[in-house]
Amino acid sequence: MRILITGASGLLGLNLALETTRRHTVFGTVNHHSLKTDAFRVIQTNLLAPGAVERLLDDTHPEWVIHCAALANLEACEADPLLAQQLNTDLPRILAKHVARSGARLVHVSTDAVFDGLHGDYSEEDIPTPVCVYSRTKLEGERAVIEVDPTAIIARVVFYGWSLNGNRSLAEFFFNNLSQGKQVMGFTDVYFCPLLANQLANILILMLEKKLSGLYHVVSPEALSKYDFGVRLAQRFNLDAGLIIPTSVLRAGLKAVRSPILTLRSDKLASALGETLPSLSTGLDRLYTLYQQGYPHMLQEMRRS
Ligand SMILES: NC(=O)c1ccc[n+]([C@@H]2O[C@H](COP(=O)([O-])OP(=O)(O)OC[C@H]3O[C@@H](n4cnc5c(N)ncnc54)[C@H](OP(=O)(O)O)[C@@H]3O)[C@@H](O)[C@H]2O)c1
Repeated sequence: MRILITGASGLLGLNLALETTRRHTVFGTVNHHSLKTDAFRVIQTNLLAPGAVERLLDDTHPEWVIHCAALANLEACEADPLLAQQLNTDLPRILAKHVARSGARLVHVSTDAVFDGLHGDYSEEDIPTPVCVYSRTKLEGERAVIEVDPTAIIARVVFYGWSLNGNRSLAEFFFNNLSQGKQVMGFTDVYFCPLLANQLANILILMLEKKLSGLYHVVSPEALSKYDFGVRLAQRFNLDAGLIIPTSVLRAGLKAVRSPILTLRSDKLASALGETLPSLSTGLDRLYTLYQQGYPHMLQEMRRS
């Protein structure tokens, strides 16, 4: 397949492009970052520029498009709500319209954070109540895509992994600090169901292969607090979990409101795929194997200066 991945310099997009390129022809877009790789074709484009989406589709003729580009930093969304709306709501609408016209299939990547996280155990049937600029603009993005192309896949995700900059994900936050013997805070009152980005990548491809459409929670069946995630990572990497100080998110001084209990049900997807989604321990095992194979270093070598 010819697959277009937007946001290929981002945490998900880069891992997705590298996982996918073994079996498919991959085009990956970047904006501010440059990428040095022969693994897939890199296209530099600001997707908010007039006509950029049409030019990109004309240039690449994809059969599948996986839209990962976004303003995914919660604090940056609070600081610039207009940009958040342009990237998280308006761009998905424009992209979905042009992708549908071209006859390609679209996966639009959304977030677990569309829920307020007051009770958890959310299914695709539950009504989201976003609590910050990021979550509101992402929910509006989902709705815009479905309105334009009801056959699109909307994937609500949450993930960790190795990134281009080496500091994008929660796993890297714990790994970088603990491996330097530094103390860090771990939130005991924020719960999530994270998948390794590389595993998530393969599941998104499987969803396309199985011709799914509509809304899915693409998360691990295992929920845990961010503190417990840090402890599990420390144990897997043989680092000192005692350096993680259990604390409340309310004491962290963050501007964007966080949804505390983002435990999502993934049984709709599990039954569509005929298999359960990966557990945390299989994700951490693969994260560790990738580390041993020099994958984080390889990603950082891909950065052009
Ligand atoms: N990270 C998480 O834990 C998490 C959790 C739930 C959902 N999600 C969702 O998952 C998706 C991927 O997130 P991520 O964490 O991988 O994102 P990320 O690391 O922040 O990367 C964002 C990507 O978007 C690109 N981008 C930003 N503005 C652009 C523009 N104007 N034109 C073209 N490209 C642009 C960036 O390109 P440059 O860097 O080259 O400028 C980068 O490749 C997003 O939809 C996010 O909402 C993320």
